[in-house]
Amino acid sequence: MRLDKLLAHSGLGTRKEVKKLLKKKIVEVNDEIIVDPKIHVDPETDTVTVGGEIIDYQEFVYFMLNKPQGVISATEDHVHETVLDLLEPQDSLQEPHPVGRLDIDTEGLLVLTNDGKLTHRLLSPKHHVNKKYFAEVEGLVTEEDVKTFKEGITLTDDHESFLTMPAELIILETDEASGTSRVEVIIQEGKFHQVKRMMAAVGKTVIYLKRLSMGDLKLDPQLELGSYRPLTDKEIDMLRNS
Ligand code: URA
Repeated sequence: MRLDKLLAHSGLGTRKEVKKLLKKKIVEVNDEIIVDPKIHVDPETDTVTVGGEIIDYQEFVYFMLNKPQGVISATEDHVHETVLDLLEPQDSLQEPHPVGRLDIDTEGLLVLTNDGKLTHRLLSPKHHVNKKYFAEVEGLVTEEDVKTFKEGITLTDDHESFLTMPAELIILETDEASGTSRVEVIIQEGKFHQVKRMMAAVGKTVIYLKRLSMGDLKLDPQLELGSYRPLTDKEIDMLRNS
């Protein structure tokens, strides 16, 4: 990759600012002072330093976000704030994107990365990656509903009906007084409004939804709504092996 791109993506400033750094003759590649922003370097094998400090360039970035309500899981939108707007400028440099979508009113685990291969793997229904949600529901969820979820539910997209993959519905609590239930739902696909539509199919309305996990990766309970942090190496492996 170009040296100025590597430096800019490593948080050393805009391409223009990086050019100024190069002019100052403080950038070295393999112990040789470089002033040309266009030269190509191999981040795997070349050693790049700025003012003697080694630049540890990472091709891929991985973040875990606790998505709040009111923010959309897109890379841009003219009306609403997007999940990318929650990132610090230096964390946006490598253009991470959300892995899948959560509805505007859904909270919880959202992974952001620029690793397209991993994104594809995690989202492909072929790979059966479990996504676990906590939901508060209007209506009293029954054992019959649990069975129906296990068998898959017929939904319709663009006038075409399809059967969802089997889903696990776990009843945590049903409250007769308020007529509401607290449940966990584990699905393998990520169809539009899937949990809400599956609940609607059994006559219940989701009033609160939060994603708890994706594959083996669990939402960090220390992470406040709207906050994010880099994934640890162990967590990245967990996702890769999900
Ligand atoms: N299912 C939904 O209905 N909404 C989400 O945001 C995620 C899963």
